[in-house]
Amino acid sequence: MTVHFIGAGPGAPDLLTLRGRDLIASCPVCLYAGSLVPEAILAHCPEGARIVNTAPLSLDEIIEECRAATAEGRDVARLHSGDLSVWSAMGEQLRRLRALDIPVSVTPGVPSFAAAAAALGAELTLPGVAQSVVLTRTPGRASSMPERETLAAFAATGATLALHLSVQNLDKITRELTPYYGTDCPVALVWRASWPDQEILRSTLGRIGEEIGAHVTRTALILVGPALGAQGFAESCLYAADYDRRYRPQSAASPWSEWQHGDD
Ligand SMILES: C[S@@+](CC[C@H](N)C(=O)[O-])C[C@H]1O[C@@H](n2cnc3c(N)ncnc32)[C@H](O)[C@@H]1O
Repeated sequence: MTVHFIGAGPGAPDLLTLRGRDLIASCPVCLYAGSLVPEAILAHCPEGARIVNTAPLSLDEIIEECRAATAEGRDVARLHSGDLSVWSAMGEQLRRLRALDIPVSVTPGVPSFAAAAAALGAELTLPGVAQSVVLTRTPGRASSMPERETLAAFAATGATLALHLSVQNLDKITRELTPYYGTDCPVALVWRASWPDQEILRSTLGRIGEEIGAHVTRTALILVGPALGAQGFAESCLYAADYDRRYRPQSAASPWSEWQHGDD
C-alpha cells in the first residue's frame, strides 16, 4: 500500500495532471491540504472515499491517518496545492513515512509561479535580460529564512524573482529591491492565479504599494524583474534561420553532433 503525494495545481481543476487524476480516483483515502485544493478535484475521489482536510491536523495526526489507512490495505492520495517541490511540507511527511517503511510516490503538479506567468502571458526568461528565475519568499510567522537567502542577495543577480507567501511583506520587498532594480522596474502581482476570481496587477516597484487592493491578502504571487516589461530584447538563437542545430542542420556536420554535446 502506498501514500501517493500529488501536486493538485494552482486552483483550476483542469490544471491537474492525468496521472494525478487517475491516482486520486484509485485511492479510497484522500488527504488534502486546505482551501487551496478545489472541491472539483476532490470530486475525482471514488464513491465512499474517506476525504480529510488536513489543515487543522498536526503532522503526527496526518502520519497516523496514512499509517492506519495503509495498515488496513488502503492506498492514500495526499494532495497539496501547486507542485510538491516547493513549500508543500512534503519533505517532513516523506521522512516520517519512510521511517515507518510505508511506500510513497510523488506526482508533480503545475506550480503557482507557472500559473501566474501564464496568466500574464509572459516568459520569465528573455535573451539578454534574465536567464534565471528565483523562487523565494520572505520570512513568515512560522518560518524564518536561512541567513544568506536575503532579497538583496537574489536581487544583486538581476534575475526574475517569484515571491511566494509574501504579499503581507510588500513594503519590505519594495524597500529592499528598489536599490537593485530601480523604482521603474516592472512588478506583476497575480492573486489566485487560475481561480475564477483571479486578479492581475501590473505595476512598478515604485508604485505597487499604493496600487494594491486591500483584499489582496493571501494566495498571491509577486513577480519582479526587467523581463516582465521588456520589449526590445534579442531573439533567441534557437529559431534563427542560420543557427546550425540538431533538427535543422545548416552544415554538413552530423545532425547529431549537437545532441552529443548536450545542446538544445
Ligand atoms: C504554501 S505555498 C504553496 C506553493 C505551491 N506548492 C506551489 O507549487 O506554488 C502558498 C503560496 O503559493 C502561492 N500560490 C499558491 N497558489 C497560488 C495561486 N493560485 N495564485 C497565486 N499564488 C499562489 C502564494 O504565494 C501562496 O502564498
